[in-house]
Amino acid sequence: MSGNLNTPIRPGDEARVPGHVAIIMDGNGRWARQRGQIRLAGHRAGVKSVRRAIEFAGRHGIGQLTLFAFSSENWKRPETEVSGLMELFSWALSNETKHLAENNIRFRVVGDISRFPENVRSAIAEAEKATAGNTGLRLVIAANYGGRWDIASAARILVRRARAGEISEDDVSEDLVTASLAVTDDVDLLIRTGGERRISNFLLWQLAYSEIYISDVLWPDFDSKVFQTALDYYRGRERRFGRTSEQVQERRL
Ligand code: FPP
Repeated sequence: MSGNLNTPIRPGDEARVPGHVAIIMDGNGRWARQRGQIRLAGHRAGVKSVRRAIEFAGRHGIGQLTLFAFSSENWKRPETEVSGLMELFSWALSNETKHLAENNIRFRVVGDISRFPENVRSAIAEAEKATAGNTGLRLVIAANYGGRWDIASAARILVRRARAGEISEDDVSEDLVTASLAVTDDVDLLIRTGGERRISNFLLWQLAYSEIYISDVLWPDFDSKVFQTALDYYRGRERRFGRTSEQVQERRL
């Protein structure tokens, strides 16, 4: 049900699981501080929550899970935290690739990873290759990703195509912009842990009509119970895509 404005709302839509769930995994640092530990300990604990979230999404028939692992702005963090996070990515990837492949999960990274260390980039390439033919859950990790970066990259692609004579100015529609983004599916449900009420330059274009669930739970404490509560919240929402409530009810009759 990854919808856009033209997606027809069908009876029973709310009873379905969201087709595309995106998560802002926040609160690792606070979780560590509460325990008198360094921030990296929170990120390490966060990897376990990543595994739990992937398993839950697979079990519940969610089509795509997009996780915000490292934003374009995260380079501003202390050098030790950034390099520790890179090591953690590389470690998690080499440990999990087999598990992803066995579970029919298709893995992909979006974002500008050109600044990432070579070992991380090759681990990403290997995991993408090993899972490319899988048909189950689409797992997308946003790394050195920013919503504005994604839109600017799409604009560059379109300019290049126009210069090459493939498209004209009038061809630039919302659908064509969408097709040129790194993440082409609209988000049905955005979950943010750690209590902040911000989008933080995540999937700006793709969040246009998302339902948003904010949890105060810190990411390392995220488990299937919190995920289920978010799905229950989503089910209770009336998705109007700009229409009135009356119109939505009428379409259901
Ligand atoms: C935000 O918490 C979290 C991050 C910037 C990193 C997320 C990384 C992971 C969960 C680990 C690895 C991920 C993968 C995909 C293997 P924060 O540090 O901003 O927390 P705070 O707001 O409490 O300081």
